[in-house]
Formats: sequence, structure tokens, C-alpha cells
Amino acid sequence: SPSNLQMGESSMLERANCRAKGGAPGFKVAILGAAGGIGQPLAMLMKMNPLVSVLHLYDVVNSPGVTADISHMDTGAVVSAGFLGQKELEAALTGMDLVVIPAGVPRKPGMTRDDLFNINAGIVRTLCEGIAKCCPNALVNLISNPVNSTVPIAAEVFKKAGIYDPKKLLGVTMLDVVRANTFVAEVLGLDPREVDVPVVGGHAGVTILPLLSQVKPPCSFTPEETEFLTKHIQDGGTEVVQAKAGAGSATLSMAYAAVKFADLCLRGLRGDAGIVACAYVDSKVTELPFFASKVRLGRGGAEEVYQLGPLNEYERIGLEKAKQELATSIQKGVSFIKK
Ligand code: NAI
Repeated sequence: SPSNLQMGESSMLERANCRAKGGAPGFKVAILGAAGGIGQPLAMLMKMNPLVSVLHLYDVVNSPGVTADISHMDTGAVVSAGFLGQKELEAALTGMDLVVIPAGVPRKPGMTRDDLFNINAGIVRTLCEGIAKCCPNALVNLISNPVNSTVPIAAEVFKKAGIYDPKKLLGVTMLDVVRANTFVAEVLGLDPREVDVPVVGGHAGVTILPLLSQVKPPCSFTPEETEFLTKHIQDGGTEVVQAKAGAGSATLSMAYAAVKFADLCLRGLRGDAGIVACAYVDSKVTELPFFASKVRLGRGGAEEVYQLGPLNEYERIGLEKAKQELATSIQKGVSFIKK
């Protein structure tokens, strides 16, 4: 419109910022790695979330382009500036309530999540140093793999900076839950929206432990169904990597899962009661310092970490395998910072 043409870009941004400050209820959210395969659809879906008032999109490439594109969506959240490169990390993080991190390289066929460690560990360390400095009270949703190690890395960075609040650091395992709900619903002939499968342990191979004995609505599986579903859920990510044949790993279903999880975190921050989700967190549920299980999300983050509940024989064996691998992955993350 003519008025838009007359108005400089900076004054438009000022108005938008005013609108964001001027009481539009909502939270300030940063996405780090926003130009990536997960980052872009995640940014789009976050722009559609009515709980978000301000969205900061940070990446080392192409974030101004993604920001310009997303900013044209006629939803409430204000997407201000594109935050590009290390020198703009602090501006991207200052004042944020929630930071979602899908930055880092994804798998190619034949790779395990642990093969990503050497590159992604350093990326996560740098980003978490920024968080410690600029928004130490923010909730962190960590997606970058290997999650089993990157969460311990983030915790060590925060401890070093003296700001570690275990309730505020959440490894995102929601995609495992989303897959489990879908696959179990297929077997039971139900709508996946009616199915709730707890998935505990961690986010890689045998550490992904679906608790099929605790599925809601209550149901039972034959040993063959249990074996099939457990493997299918554990290998879901690898199946996508193989199908994409070198072009990356799960991005669209992951963006969906990340937004589903972020939305629950924001509802918790808002003070809604009874918000429960699975996440990989600082934990006393097992002897390991980190473990994924159901947590209650509230104003302070993961305010309560739930016990696993009764397990059947198959799940108890799975739990022992999961703990062995997890112990190694956690140690690897911790020593990356302590070395
Ligand atoms: P991608 O390569 O498409 O995107 C990653 C983005 O991170 C790129 O835009 C890149 O420029 C950016 N980046 C790299 N270094 C950065 C830095 N220092 N600061 C900020 N941004 C940086 O990868 P994709 O497919 O989006 O996957 C991202 C991560 O998410 C991978 O580590 C992948 O393994 C993980 N992942 C996790 C899942 C989970 O369930 N937790 C599921 C699927 C993927």
C-alpha cells in the first residue's frame, strides 16, 4: 500500500516491535539453525502459534531470507530482523523465553547419530554459551543430535557459567512419541490422535524405549507385535534417512514434533495445569544423570520428572540395554566440556 511504501523499513519494524511489546500476550522464541531442513518448517509452524509474540530466526546462512519469507504470514507473532552469523547470536538470544535448537549436521545413510558428535558438539557448546550469557532463564529445547550427548554438553556449559537450572534444559524426544503414536494406532486401527505411547530412555537406537504396556487407551499386543512396533519406533529415523538417500534425515515430521513440544512448554510457562510430555532431562529416575521420561511442564520448565511405572519383562530387558548405551553417550558429552 502507499503508506507502506512511504514508511521506511525500520519504522515498520519499530511498529511491529511496539505491537509485540504493547501487550500482545505471548512468549519470545528463538530458533537457532532456523534456515535448515528442520528449522524452516519449524519457523513456519512457530509463526502460526498464538502463544508466540516474537520470533527470532538465527542461522549461519540464509536466515535473512527465511525471515523475510516467514514475516509475510498474517499471524500475530512478530518476526524481527534476520539474525545471521556468530556476531548476531547475542542479539538473537537477548530477552528470549524459549530457545529451540535444531542447528547442526544431520545423518546420511549408514551413519549413527553418534557419528555427528564431532561437528554438533562444538555447535551446541557455542550456542549454549550464548544462552548462558544472554538469556540464562530461558527454557531450552535441544534437537541437535546426538541428543543423548548434546544435552549433557549443554548442562556442562551451563554449570560452568553458573546458571544451570536442570528444569530448563529439555532434550526433544517428541518425534519418537509421535512415531510411536502413529505406528501403534496403525496396528490397533485407531486414530493416532487418540493414542498415547510413553517413550523413555534416550533418542538413539536401543535407547529409544517405547512402553507398550502403558499405551492409552489400554490395549495388549502379541509378542510379535511388540517386537515389530519396538523396532519400527527405534528405527523410524533411520528409515527416513535411507528413504531420503543422502538428502538428510527427518525434517517435516521433526518440525511438527518440535512445535508440538514447544507448544506444551509454552502452555506450561503460561501456567496451564496438567501439561505432561516425554523429554530427555536431568533425572533421578534411574542411576543415570540424564534420562527421558514423562515430565510435568510448568512455569519453571520440567517441574516434575515422573517415574517409569510398572514395566513388563520385555521392557525391563530393553531398559538395561538402553542404560548401557546411554551411560557411554552421557560420559562422552560430559568429557567433551570437562577435558
Ligand atoms: P540441516 O543441515 O538441514 O540444517 C541445520 C542448520 O543448522 C543449517 O541451516 C546450518 O546452517 C545450521 N547451523 C550449522 N552450524 C550452526 C551454528 N553454529 N549456529 C547456528 N546454526 C548452525 O539439518 P536438519 O535436518 O535441520 O537437522 C538438524 C539437526 O537435528 C541434526 O543434528 C539432526 O540430526 C537433528 N535431528 C534431531 C531429531 C530429534 O528427534 N531430536 C530428529 C531429526 C533430526
